[in-house]
Amino acid sequence: MVGADAGLSASLENIQEYIFDVACVQCHNELNPSGGLDLSSAQVSYDNLVDVSAANAVAGENGWMRVKPGDAELSFLIRKLAPGLGEGAPMPLGNQQITPFYVDLMKNWIASGAQR
Ligand code: HEC
Repeated sequence: MVGADAGLSASLENIQEYIFDVACVQCHNELNPSGGLDLSSAQVSYDNLVDVSAANAVAGENGWMRVKPGDAELSFLIRKLAPGLGEGAPMPLGNQQITPFYVDLMKNWIASGAQR
C-alpha cells in the first residue's frame, strides 16, 4: 500500500494518482465497475463520485451520496474506507487499509468542496 508522503495537497489529481490508481482501479474500471463505480481517471472518478447516489442499498435508503461536497461524514466513499460500519465490504476489498494520511487527503478534498 502507498506510504505517507508529506506535502501533498488535497486535490483530486493527487487522490487519483496516489490512491485510486494504486489501490482501486483493478476493481473499479470501465470494463468492471464494481458496485457501479468507475475510478479510472480523475475526470471519470469525479463524474462517478461527486453528487452521485451510492449504489449500495442501505446507503441508498439513507440518501447518501458517494461524495457530498463539504461533508465527508455523509460521503459514502469515506464510510467504505472505515471497516466495520456495515454497508458492504470495507475498501479496498481484500487489501490493506488505506493509511490515515490518505484517508485524510480524501476527507480534506471533500471538506473543501470536492473541486474537480
Ligand atoms: C478487489 C476488488 C476491489 C478493490 C481493490 C476495491 N474495491 Fe471498491 N468495491 C468492490 C466491490 C465488489 C464493490 C461492491 C460491493 C460492496 O459495496 O461491498 C465495491 C464497492 C465500492 C464502493 C461503493 C459503491 C456504491 O455506490 O455502493 C465504494 C465507494 C468503493 N468500492 C470504493 C473503493 C475505493 C476508494 C477503493 C480503493 C481504495 C476500492 N473501492 C477498491 C471491489 C473492490
